[in-house]
Amino acid sequence: METNAPKRRDNKKSLRVKVISLGNAEVGKSCIIKRYCEKRFVPKYLATIGIDYGVTKVQVRDREIKVNIFDMAGHPFFYEVRNEFYKDSQGVLLVYDVGLRESFDALDSWLGEMKQEMGSQANMDSIVFIVCANKVDLTKRRVVDEGEGRLWAESRGFHYFETSAQSGEGINEMFQSFFSSITDMCENGGKRPVSEVSVGFTKEQADTIRRIRNSKDSWDMLGVKPGATREEVNKAYRKLAVLLHPDKCVAPGSEDAFKAVVNARTSLLKNIK
Ligand code: GTP
Ligand code: MG
Repeated sequence: METNAPKRRDNKKSLRVKVISLGNAEVGKSCIIKRYCEKRFVPKYLATIGIDYGVTKVQVRDREIKVNIFDMAGHPFFYEVRNEFYKDSQGVLLVYDVGLRESFDALDSWLGEMKQEMGSQANMDSIVFIVCANKVDLTKRRVVDEGEGRLWAESRGFHYFETSAQSGEGINEMFQSFFSSITDMCENGGKRPVSEVSVGFTKEQADTIRRIRNSKDSWDMLGVKPGATREEVNKAYRKLAVLLHPDKCVAPGSEDAFKAVVNARTSLLKNIK
């Protein structure tokens, strides 16, 4: 007997999403996408001119996802071309090269450029961000370690993956997690699920650990002026100790940061009358 019932009644509607790649020139954005979509690696650097566009279909649980990928050029020269493409993105791949500190430090400015271009649309809670610490195959030239990268990412509620477009390490896992989180977000009415953004430590703690790691001397580490008094040093120390004490702070790197602060205080107090 024939029925008029729709044949694919149980299938959820397919989703169409837009993702973009951001990060300094030459960090490996295009190679990461090529490794995933074409399963190959190109060692020669071919700078993206403005934007590259591609489409791929993926299956997440029982849903087909059509992903529109806008691969941005990282060179400042292409700003005028890129700025058109930020709007309406559901996912962002933020890429840096673990061998180039300036590419890691630049992540903040990439977020800044994105917010500025999205204007009133700038609701970052409706976007899934994945940070790719790329080129991990080049172990000898690595200068940004996992703890530092993870801290930056997770304190903002972003995912963190170590990747190599050259060897393929981390690439499939990263994209699977990316597309699955975007699907979760769409099914959650366009909001990133809360569990993803709650990491057990605050942005203040993460930013302080980062500042301590990058400080140039003990004064700088405690956040006091050179020549500060004993009282000023002790006050600054107490504030940092409360914020970073390993019993209270679970952020990656908090234990090392706490030890560094204790040592900085000890060495400063030795020389203050
Ligand atoms: P723009 O398009 O200019 O913004 O650069 P991009 O970020 O797209 O960089 P691209 O993917 O073109 O890669 C830059 C260079 O880094 C190329 O020579 C790649 O072969 C190399 N590269 C990319 N990923 C990796 C990696 O994981 N490991 C190594 N060893 N080299 C990589
Ligand atoms: Mg490129």
